[in-house]
Amino acid sequence: MQTYPLSSKLPHVGTTIFTVMSALAQEHQAINLSQGFPDFSCDKKLISLVNHYMKKGHNQYAPMAGAPVLRQRISTLVKELYGADYDPETEITITSGATEALFCAVTALVKEGDEVIVIEPAYDSYIPAIELSGGVPVCIPLEYPSYRLDWDKLKRLINQRTRVIMINTPHNPTGAVLSEQDMVELERLVHTNNIFVISDEVYEHIVFDGLQHASIARFPDLAVKSIIVSSFGKSLHTTGWKVGYALAPPRLTKELRKVHQFVTFSTSTPFQYAIADYLQQQREAIDGLRAFYQAKRDYFLRLMEGSAFTPIPASGTYFQLMSYAGISDEGDEAFAQRLTREYKVASIPVSVFYRYKTDHKVVRFCFAKNEQTLKEAAERLQQVKA
Ligand SMILES: Cc1ncc(COP(=O)(O)O)c(C=O)c1O
Repeated sequence: MQTYPLSSKLPHVGTTIFTVMSALAQEHQAINLSQGFPDFSCDKKLISLVNHYMKKGHNQYAPMAGAPVLRQRISTLVKELYGADYDPETEITITSGATEALFCAVTALVKEGDEVIVIEPAYDSYIPAIELSGGVPVCIPLEYPSYRLDWDKLKRLINQRTRVIMINTPHNPTGAVLSEQDMVELERLVHTNNIFVISDEVYEHIVFDGLQHASIARFPDLAVKSIIVSSFGKSLHTTGWKVGYALAPPRLTKELRKVHQFVTFSTSTPFQYAIADYLQQQREAIDGLRAFYQAKRDYFLRLMEGSAFTPIPASGTYFQLMSYAGISDEGDEAFAQRLTREYKVASIPVSVFYRYKTDHKVVRFCFAKNEQTLKEAAERLQQVKA
């Protein structure tokens, strides 16, 4: 066999914990609350619409920036929700999921040696995207157990090389949401330094307890230096369709599209037309998401009452963190694997969302599941004792 030198561009990246936990869940026939996707169907009307557009012949490349009708509907939605004007022609780009939008945003903005501030725990695609661009991730942890951000600590990390701050609200995995005051702090930093913001808002419609989502789009002085990323996978229960989008002012959009056109060029056509129609016909599906998922969160929490786990309050997303510090002092990866093997419930250990595996003895459960799934999972979790 011939050997050849091969130096990995991502030497620290291996099989993700999501793949590991899902495989373990399957092996042990466990209930899978690890990966973040619904175990129920999306609206059948949405499926009919995709079918309709396929039959109608919308099966070739979509325009590079996305189907104009979908960009127009997103513009209307953003205006109604956040009072912001985004021009569909020059400020909205449809991407193949939020992951693609994040990758294009980072690639467009980050050059060799640029520093990017990443707030941990962080979604796993951020750091590899930064490193592939030759950027340097500078990580700052949220405070535990409040998962609030200490802005003074963040300020101390800023220097001449700082190019981007990445934020995520509502936040995966903690369910924390940034407040209006947080945005005011961010605005101050961005205003006085030559820094851009990449704002991952894929859970924008899943906010609980009457809170308002503090979208960057609500803050014009921030929005001019920001790329906002969202995903229909989360909003329409269609994570497998991989349709997302990026909102940004024209100069930033121009740079983002330069990357997008060579990453995927465009996003699947019939899905774009179907989603555009659906947004017009079924707007209540989006508006109803917060109540829909709040009911699931509350149901899961009720079922877990009296268990040995301690829930960590979540204000958004479809994830619930639970501390198992009262049960065991095992590391969280070992605990999550044992939970899967012995109690047949799969979760995600939160340390994997930190670059250097910070372990607070917390695991993440996804509650985007049918009531029956949640009920069975909670019954099993109630058996776990110290
Ligand atoms: C915080 C966050 N950002 C981005 C994504 C990726 O979204 P998409 O599936 O649309 O690529 C996810 C998916 O889990 C996520 O949780």
